[in-house]
Amino acid sequence: MFKYHCLNPISAVGMNKLDENYVKTENADEADVILVRSAKMHEMEFGKNLKAIARAGAGVNNIPLDKCAEEGIVVFNTPGANANGVKELVIAGMLLAARDVVGGIQWVQEFEEDGDIAKLAEKKKKAFAGTELSGKKLGVIGLGAIGVLVANVATHLGMEVYGYDPYVSVDSAWRLSRSIHHATTVDEIYKECDYITIHVPALDSTKGMIDKNAISLMKEGVVILNFARDVLVNQEDIVDALVAGKVHRYVTDFPTKEIVGVKGAIVIPHLGASTEESEDNCAQMAVAEIRDFLENGNITHS
Ligand code: MLT
Repeated sequence: MFKYHCLNPISAVGMNKLDENYVKTENADEADVILVRSAKMHEMEFGKNLKAIARAGAGVNNIPLDKCAEEGIVVFNTPGANANGVKELVIAGMLLAARDVVGGIQWVQEFEEDGDIAKLAEKKKKAFAGTELSGKKLGVIGLGAIGVLVANVATHLGMEVYGYDPYVSVDSAWRLSRSIHHATTVDEIYKECDYITIHVPALDSTKGMIDKNAISLMKEGVVILNFARDVLVNQEDIVDALVAGKVHRYVTDFPTKEIVGVKGAIVIPHLGASTEESEDNCAQMAVAEIRDFLENGNITHS
């Protein structure tokens, strides 16, 4: 009998795949395995039975990996399981940057004047006019599970897509549309693209990669999308670039104290993977990994 503890609510679809060999414990100290979504685990003391942590999601920056390595605790994640959910929100983010849908909806909701709203809307609509994605250049930095999906959809929207990933896997390469231009340096993306979306993990080598130097190479009025991690973008530098108008829009899934309320920032409260389907997929993959490890000794996606 194995004991598991959930630090965050995990989708029931996946949890139902645990059979009678598993029992849920409210006490993390006695668990063999902990399932976690986004809760930060750095301050947590690990119980003596803990053998594995399964992260229902891709990023593992909420888990103290060094401590796990020292204590022999296996860490799993669920790469690709929520990629479709994130991809769809990135595409929505690009559309929100191109068209002032938010401003238009807000105007309708706050409409209090007497008179015919339809007629007034006709007069008002110039103020909300936008641009189209078709024909624009999109740079995708990081061609993993999410980047590849975003790149492929963008080509179908008529965008000219540039991809950059020095470590592109064979699997990703096969899943990429042939019409993508492979940039040989990240600077090429910065210099050429109207929209730039980042899909890399938060590592020492990627933290702050979008800073004032990178932004200085970009086009005037560039749109930057960050659905990967807040630390990839230097928050002071992106605020300065928005205020100066160099960056037209910064669309991000990560609210920070610096960015909230800044004109031109479109900030979403980390909803990229918050779909029923993504949550179910992550939970099922996490549970399959746990079972394969505890019952068969196999380690996948660790
Ligand atoms: C992930 O790392 O998988 C995403 O940020 C989604 C999430 O954690 O909810």
